[in-house]
Amino acid sequence: MSRFRSSPLTLLLTCSWIIAVSGEPEVMRVKPGQNVILPCQTGDVTIKAAEWIKSEPKPPKNILFWRGGRLQSEYQQHSSFKGRVQLLDGELKNGDVSLILKDVNREDVGTYECRVKTDDSASLKTISIVHLLTDPEPVVVEEPVGQYAGLPCQTGDVTITAVEWTRSDLVAPDYVLFYRDGRSDPTHQHSSFKGRVQLVDDEMKNGDASLILKDVNREDNGTYECRVKTAGSRRNKTETISIVRLLVTDPVSQHASAVEVDDWDPFVLLPCDFPTDGLDKPSVVWSRYDLNPSTVHQRQQEGDELKDQNQLYSGRTSMKTDALRTGDLSLNLTKLQLSDSGSYTCTVRGFRMGIKKELRVTDVHLQVKVPTERFPSWAKALLVLLVLLAVGLLVRALYQHFRHYFMSVYQVEVDSGVESVQLPCKTIVCLFKGTKVVWRDGYDRKLHVYQNGSDRPEEQNSDYRDRTEMKRKLLEPGDLSLTLKDPTSSDTGIYTCTVYNNKGDILKMTPLVLQVKVCQVEVEEGEESVQLPFRTTPDLPEDSKVVWVDEENKKVHVYQNGSDQPEEQHSDYKGRTEMKKDLLKTGDLSLTLKYPTDRYSNTYTCTVYNRKGNILMKKELVLKIKVCQVEVKEGEESVQLPFKTTPDLPEDSTVMWRRSYRTVHLYENRSDQPEKQHQDYKYRTELKEDLLKTGDLSLTLKYPKETDTGRYRCEVINEDGDVLKEKTVELKVKGRTQIKDETEDIRNRSSSTELTPLKLHESV
Ligand SMILES: *[C@@H]1O[C@H](CO)[C@@H](O)[C@H](O)[C@H]1NC(C)=O
Ligand SMILES: *[C@@H]1O[C@H](CO)[C@@H](O)[C@H](O)[C@H]1NC(C)=O
Ligand SMILES: *[C@@H]1O[C@H](CO)[C@@H](O)[C@H](O)[C@H]1NC(C)=O
Ligand SMILES: *[C@@H]1O[C@H](CO)[C@@H](O)[C@H](O)[C@H]1NC(C)=O
Ligand SMILES: *[C@@H]1O[C@H](CO)[C@@H](O)[C@H](O)[C@H]1NC(C)=O
Ligand SMILES: *[C@@H]1O[C@H](CO)[C@@H](O)[C@H](O)[C@H]1NC(C)=O
Ligand SMILES: *[C@@H]1O[C@H](CO)[C@@H](O)[C@H](O)[C@H]1NC(C)=O
Repeated sequence: MSRFRSSPLTLLLTCSWIIAVSGEPEVMRVKPGQNVILPCQTGDVTIKAAEWIKSEPKPPKNILFWRGGRLQSEYQQHSSFKGRVQLLDGELKNGDVSLILKDVNREDVGTYECRVKTDDSASLKTISIVHLLTDPEPVVVEEPVGQYAGLPCQTGDVTITAVEWTRSDLVAPDYVLFYRDGRSDPTHQHSSFKGRVQLVDDEMKNGDASLILKDVNREDNGTYECRVKTAGSRRNKTETISIVRLLVTDPVSQHASAVEVDDWDPFVLLPCDFPTDGLDKPSVVWSRYDLNPSTVHQRQQEGDELKDQNQLYSGRTSMKTDALRTGDLSLNLTKLQLSDSGSYTCTVRGFRMGIKKELRVTDVHLQVKVPTERFPSWAKALLVLLVLLAVGLLVRALYQHFRHYFMSVYQVEVDSGVESVQLPCKTIVCLFKGTKVVWRDGYDRKLHVYQNGSDRPEEQNSDYRDRTEMKRKLLEPGDLSLTLKDPTSSDTGIYTCTVYNNKGDILKMTPLVLQVKVCQVEVEEGEESVQLPFRTTPDLPEDSKVVWVDEENKKVHVYQNGSDQPEEQHSDYKGRTEMKKDLLKTGDLSLTLKYPTDRYSNTYTCTVYNRKGNILMKKELVLKIKVCQVEVKEGEESVQLPFKTTPDLPEDSTVMWRRSYRTVHLYENRSDQPEKQHQDYKYRTELKEDLLKTGDLSLTLKYPKETDTGRYRCEVINEDGDVLKEKTVELKVKGRTQIKDETEDIRNRSSSTELTPLKLHESV
């Protein structure tokens, strides 16, 4: 299979000689920065005068004028061509008036005319017309890891015969996709794209050569080019139709939050925020995956779609009418019930470039508490049920018994980190042989089953294996309390202890609420270190293993065989952690995290294992790093993003302030590097003098505008690329009352002449 990519320019030029003579306009496409030859062949050697002008866009601009064997210097050449044009043959000996235009830029796009006066003609006659185009401006597509990316390439030409998608940095075989004769040809495809790419329209019916890239990963980050060959014009042409910069971002972070309410609260709002304006046909679904059907609420563009709603939520859910427009996708849940406790997931669906997107935005843990000292309505219902079930003798005893519970429902509260918690269940009812006791959690999973005098671990849910123990005095009025080992915050919830007789009738059912409190540590970003405290019993076995992990189960610190095991540690935490000396002896398993930054806000769990790998103890902690917030009004002269760190940083350090992937300010090799700065920030930023010496890395941002609002991050990087210090600052620039559409301005600015930064510079 021959490839046609190598030299489109040569191809165009070769063809153009013939065309130009026939007087038909030539279309030429070049990349900015390249040189181009605009062809003009007269075939006549008696040239008296020749002229090149740029006739479009109007007004026409003079390029050069040749007469009597030389260029006319008094000719008013337009300034934009100064020093960039030259005749291919300065003497026009062979009748070749072709023009070399150097260092093409986007302003050069337009129509060029070559006019010549020969012996035969009385005046200048147009010989050649060239339409000059530059490559399209790159389109930026931002997509999180794991998603499908759509790379646009619309030609509007239905006669596509071949399409090639390439990425600038690949070495051969370098095709992302090669399409020809109605099908993709994998021969030259780069291996990393095998099975992952496809054209939006395999039949090319609508001239759409856009590409779908599945399961985006970080290596896909780069600049892609779509070139298309069409058969529509008189000859085959290869043209760059689009250039796409794919920016691969972190996976959509799943924020989990917790909401706690009492069941007498009139409603609860489960928060979910996501801008849906980038999506076509957006919709949002609230689900509880522990229920079937799992849909709690669904909103589409047309309105609510409650066909699949779980009946438990019928008539109790609502969302704001303009939710999809504003991005406030919160769910309003009313008439709260205990069974509403659970994990709610907010998922946004829609299409981007015809590709279906599904983004799990947030998980909200709702805990509906049973208020103490109150007669809950579900208890009344239970009483009725029990009265019906337990006819005869038991009624009185049961009533006596339950009356007690109506007054208060047990609420058990423990701190995460305790060895175990006891869930009480006492009975004054006589229990006979065949009696079965089942402990269940709020999801109806069995924690523990006891029947015919023995435990039945085979009926137990695997999450609770080896974690439960029950008292065994069943044949007398007694204690059915359950011991649950190593409680963690995920054990927070409702538990019931149910007693059945040998016919399967319920004799007794005790509900209780367990609350496992997690200690929270809060610290400001920029502190030297933070300690996650965990003190437990001293003199732990010498062969114990201590492991700190974060929410994603990344290993934060591992201690085994009497020493730290840094090789087991996740790279995010390398060099950032410290544990005490003699920790097994003292029982002080506290972890010190150095230079805590915003990234370290997380839930950390410390687990101690014995030699066999059994858990001896466990503790959870929530660490919250407060991010510095700065607020300023638009129109102020400047704003400072503060960052003071330790003085005397290494002299070769790089200091980089950025916002998302934009470089806001770069200090490298002992000086500012304005050419590497994003244009939005050009001439607007300033760092202090001697910043590495003083440790004051604060950034001054001049003329703050509303669109500057966002998260700024400063990193100090040493020669080896290690991040030494970092800090996040959240900047909010409040707009003036009369808000213009700033985004439009920016778009115009970046695509046109970038005048604004220059203007600013002049005014400085
Ligand atoms: C992705 O590419 C852009 C430039 O195209 C670069 O600035 C950025 O750092 C890259 N991101 C990753 C994760 O490699
Ligand atoms: C265009 O290209 C196709 C495929 O390479 C070829 O078969 C056809 O003859 C070409 N047409 C012209 C006019 O060159
Ligand atoms: C939630 O819904 C209830 C009942 O429709 C209403 O009274 C309440 O104001 C709503 N709450 C919010 C914040 O919209
Ligand atoms: C428990 O004992 C009862 C009566 O003795 C018997 O019917 C039942 O099958 C036994 N259940 C199990 C699980 O052994
Ligand atoms: C710890 O010691 C045990 C037994 O001496 C050995 O099997 C194990 O590989 C050691 N682990 C590490 C991480 O050194
Ligand atoms: C910084 O200095 C090093 C060595 O002196 C050089 O290799 C590098 O290109 C310089 N970087 C910049 C941005 O000037
Ligand atoms: C931005 O460009 C659009 C289209 O070219 C134009 O309609 C609009 O007026 C421009 N806005 C400004 C503020 O120049």
